[in-house]
Amino acid sequence: MPLLKTLQVQHFRNLGGATLHLGPAFNVFYGENASGKTSILEAIYLLSANRSFRTHKPHYLIQHDKDQLTVFGEFLGEDAHLDKVGISRNRAGEVQIRKNGANVHSSSELAQGFPCLTLDPESFNLFDGSPKARRAILDWLVFHVKPDFLNAWKNYARALKQRNMLLRRGKINRLELLPWDTLLCKEALKVEAMRQEVLVEFIELFENVLSAMSDEFDQNIELSYKTGWPAGTSLDSEKSLLTVLDGLWQRDLELGYSSSGSHRFDLKFQYCHRLASENLSRGQKKSVVIALHQAMAMLFVRRTGHTPAILLDDLPSELDSKRLTALCENLRSLGSQLFISAVAREQLATVLEELKDTPCSWFHVKQGQITVNNQ
Ligand SMILES: Nc1ncnc2c1ncn2[C@@H]1O[C@H](COP(=O)(O)OP(=O)(O)OP(=O)(O)O)[C@@H](O)[C@H]1O
Ligand SMILES: [Mg+2]
Repeated sequence: MPLLKTLQVQHFRNLGGATLHLGPAFNVFYGENASGKTSILEAIYLLSANRSFRTHKPHYLIQHDKDQLTVFGEFLGEDAHLDKVGISRNRAGEVQIRKNGANVHSSSELAQGFPCLTLDPESFNLFDGSPKARRAILDWLVFHVKPDFLNAWKNYARALKQRNMLLRRGKINRLELLPWDTLLCKEALKVEAMRQEVLVEFIELFENVLSAMSDEFDQNIELSYKTGWPAGTSLDSEKSLLTVLDGLWQRDLELGYSSSGSHRFDLKFQYCHRLASENLSRGQKKSVVIALHQAMAMLFVRRTGHTPAILLDDLPSELDSKRLTALCENLRSLGSQLFISAVAREQLATVLEELKDTPCSWFHVKQGQITVNNQ
């Protein structure tokens, strides 16, 4: 995958203006709390997702008292081709994304050009919160390894939006919903089939990573797909999905939204036949989350022949050096470009010294100023 060679940020959180020349393997950003480390990773992530990994409010990213942020990246492709990507966003909510001088109209195009996998302290709450973060795991995988998924998902989302609009409006009859129900079921069939196919391979990889990690997880962690359709629905027949909506539409009308469907899925994690959220210790949860992300990166590489970039935010404060070393070693062995933040340089220096012959670029961050410090 393309390497991020140069990053330029302007008026992004507390980063007034900076130009960084990045290395092909490890890039470490270290500095005191509130110096701007996570902001740098956020700016890199913006070039992949056109959003932040820590807030849904994009205007929070614009530096206080400034009207507009800009993030610019130069990517070196595998064929030595240089791609230039720029994103700007202003307080009025206007966004402009340019690639090599032309407008980019969708975030998915960005993500395809620079796939990023992120692990931050929040990632370790995966089992405890709403399904959103768990859904994001499978969505990320299917989006990247199944090129047809995006189209099916867009059509599904369009049908769902129209269906929900009618349900909210109320006073409708079955016939008005039917065209959207038909489209929704047709696309759901594709979505479910692609998810199933990817999950089977993913679960196998995840289990291998887990058992290599520790005997305590060998055969004891179970990951399964919890469909968003009522229990027992056959997910491989459009007719059976339509029958479900036939039975549900009046209830959905009362609720004002679509209570079942492929958008409502979850991933269920169990440890020794009990819910992982209840039965894993905090430390065990971290190990399982790490294994999940390793398996995600591995599946990505296996299926696409490319490597995703990896962002690790503040992990030395969450992981002991043994686990951190193993994680860095495994991710680097895939060939990924890594961007890591830590409060103190020493937290990572010993870890990375153990990974011999691996180029590492060090950046000291202080009050929004970034300086290279490679000695
Ligand atoms: N829109 C903004 N404009 C200016 N400053 C901001 C904005 N948003 C956040 N900040 C400030 O930027 C600083 C850097 O935040 P950031 O989260 O990047 O720090 P950090 O180095 O990751 O800290 P920690 O080690 O505590 O995680 C903080 O002081 C924060 O208050
Ligand atoms: Mg931080």
